[in-house]
Order: sequence, then structure tokens, then C-alpha cells
Amino acid sequence: MIEAAVLGYGTVGSGVVEVIERNREEVSRRAGEEVHVKYILDLRDFPGDPYEDKVVHDFNLILEDEEVSIICEVMGGVGAAYQFTKQALEAGKSVCSSNKELVAKHGAELLAIAARKHCNYMFEASVGGGIPVIRSINNALTPERIEAVTGILNGTTNYILSKMEREGADYAQALKQAQELGYAERNPEADVEGHDACRKIAILASLMTGNNVDAEKIYTEGITKITAADFDYARAAGMTIKLLARASLQEDGSVLAMVAPHMLSKEHSLAMVNDVFNGIFVTGNMLGDTMFYGHGAGKLPTASAVTADVIDCIRNRDRTAWCIWEETECRLADVAQTKKKFFVRVKASARKAAEEVFSGSSILEVPEHPEEAGVITQELTERECSEKCALLKENVISRIRML
Ligand code: HSE
Repeated sequence: MIEAAVLGYGTVGSGVVEVIERNREEVSRRAGEEVHVKYILDLRDFPGDPYEDKVVHDFNLILEDEEVSIICEVMGGVGAAYQFTKQALEAGKSVCSSNKELVAKHGAELLAIAARKHCNYMFEASVGGGIPVIRSINNALTPERIEAVTGILNGTTNYILSKMEREGADYAQALKQAQELGYAERNPEADVEGHDACRKIAILASLMTGNNVDAEKIYTEGITKITAADFDYARAAGMTIKLLARASLQEDGSVLAMVAPHMLSKEHSLAMVNDVFNGIFVTGNMLGDTMFYGHGAGKLPTASAVTADVIDCIRNRDRTAWCIWEETECRLADVAQTKKKFFVRVKASARKAAEEVFSGSSILEVPEHPEEAGVITQELTERECSEKCALLKENVISRIRML
């Protein structure tokens, strides 16, 4: 019998207890042993809850209980969660986490402690909810040099953008609906400003390179400036708009990492990832493209990924499973120097000037916006595009990168 503890009895925490309970047979058969949740740590009490007798308020009870060998950290944040995780790993207890903020910030350090103590720090649920992308990178794709990861890693923003596309809703309406349905938080900043996707791509880029990608250094732009008019143009061009998180190896060995809205063809597989779903393209030098698709959030999908880690920890008892993420800092490419096409909306009065400034571009006009024109540029560096937009001054309405 494996004794486990769950830190945080919120949505994911209660999901972990539910998955272990409801899939008791599958879990114990595949782990080779029964898993029993001995403690649930939370600040609150849960009178009437079927597991109320497991609820404790003092982490030391769990830490000092030698029977507990696996801890699921699903409390979030980088304060107590960081301290508890470090203490648990130092005590030789494996930790399974869904906490992307903590993994992105301290993943390399926590993995190093786990390796030193012959236990495991696993975090499948921190990226893509229930989608097994981390385990795939660490196992199935292990002979590959992973050259790029491009993903829709945030369900909330994908829901908002899908709604804007389908219903012609503006950003504020779509956000309100996402909040009413419980997809977006009352303070949606982490999602809509791209910080959540940034942490997730930092984790994937770190695993892709084996070195630490600092999330704070990743160029990040959210979706708050995307409008219904942008979608009118995208539709006319047979395209859509998605918040993409990207990491790719550059020729000089650096990594280009960024999060930003992109226009992409409706034919692209990522264009078909809608609503709260996530989709992740991983490109290996031998394998080519592999795509992962599924529930990027939600109680049971996320809890299922945490439970998969619990089983993996049991299978890797007394040894550390393979995972390379060193503390050495990964060199990031200067985004300003990277090339791509851009979609630039300008006032109709500046159409001629825009054609001159963006020579070789094509113009897109839509009946909904006779007072403006859309410019699809040639490939430009980010710096060149900014310089050209500066020449057109206040005639530039908006600018979106193209995939
Ligand atoms: N807020 C996140 C999302 C939850 O919308 O994808 C899962 O990490």
C-alpha cells in the first residue's frame, strides 16, 4: 500500500482524490500497489465531505509521517507550495505537481533535489492539463532533437478567441461569457495577458533543451488588444487568430521563445483547436511533427495527469526517472531579429503610403471596414516591422504576427 497526501483541496485536489477513488482498480493494477490518500492538507475544514477526516492543517504531520511516500502538490503559488515541495523532496518523498508557476520558476532546482534524494518531482499536469505532452517529450520522443514546440496552451484565451471568431463577439463580451461559465477567473490577467501560456512554454522549452528557460525573459503579449474587426479580416483571408506559445531552436543554438496572438490558416491543425481545448505541435528532427490535443484544464483531466505521475513515481521507487532540466540558463534569441509575416491594419487614407513602406505586400479589404485596409507584409524582422509601422505613425490601427 502506498500512502499519499494531497496538498490543496480545491478543484484539482478533490479531483485527484476522486480519480484515485473511482479508478481504484486501474490505478492499483497499473501501479502494482494500492494507492491510499492518507492526508489532505488545506487551511479550511470540509464538514460533510466524504473525506473530511483526512483533512489536516499542519504540513509537518505529513512531512514527519514516514508512511507517506508521495505528495500531490495542487495548491498553486510559489510561497508555501515551494517550501513544502522542497521539504518533501529533501525528506525523500516524491512530489507530483500541477503548479505551473512553481514548476516554471523552480523546476530545475526541485528536480536536482529529487535526483540527489533518489525520489521524483513530476509535473505532467502543469502543461496542457490532461494532455500527456511532458511524459511524451521525456520518453517517447527521447531520441529526438526537438526543434520546435508550438502550442495553444491556455484554454481560457482559446475559448475567448473561438467565441470571437464564431459569433463576431468583441473581446469584452467573450471574456464576460467565459467568466460566467467559470472558464475565466474574476481577475483574468494571468490568462488574457499571456502569463499562464508563458510559464507553460518556459517549462516545455526547458525540457526541450535540457537547460533552464527563464519565463520572465520570454516575450509575452496577450489577447486583450484583439478585436472583432481583426477577425473580420482573418475570416476574409481564410485564417483565424490564436494565442500561440512558441519555442524553436535557432541556428546559433539559442532558443526563440514567445507568446503572442498569431493569424494562421484555417487549414492549420492548430486552427481546429477550439474552445477550452489545448493543442501542441512538437517538431522533432527525425520524427517531424507530432500533435497533442485534449483537455488543457478542468478538474478530472488535470487530476488524471497528477495521478499518472503518482503511478510513475511508484514505478520509479528509490530511483529518479529520466528528466533533464539543468539549472544552466538557456540562451534566448532576440525576438526583434526574428523574421515572420505580419498583418497590419491601416487607415484607408494611408493605404498608398503603406503599400510603399511595406513593398511587396498584399492588400486585403473587407466590406465591414471601408475606412481602413489590411496589409499582409513580406517576411520582416520584428524590428523592421516596428520601424515601418513607425513611419506610418497614427495611421497604423493594429498589427498581428502571422504563422
Ligand atoms: N487558466 C488555465 C487555462 C488553466 O485556461 O488554460 C489550466 O492551466
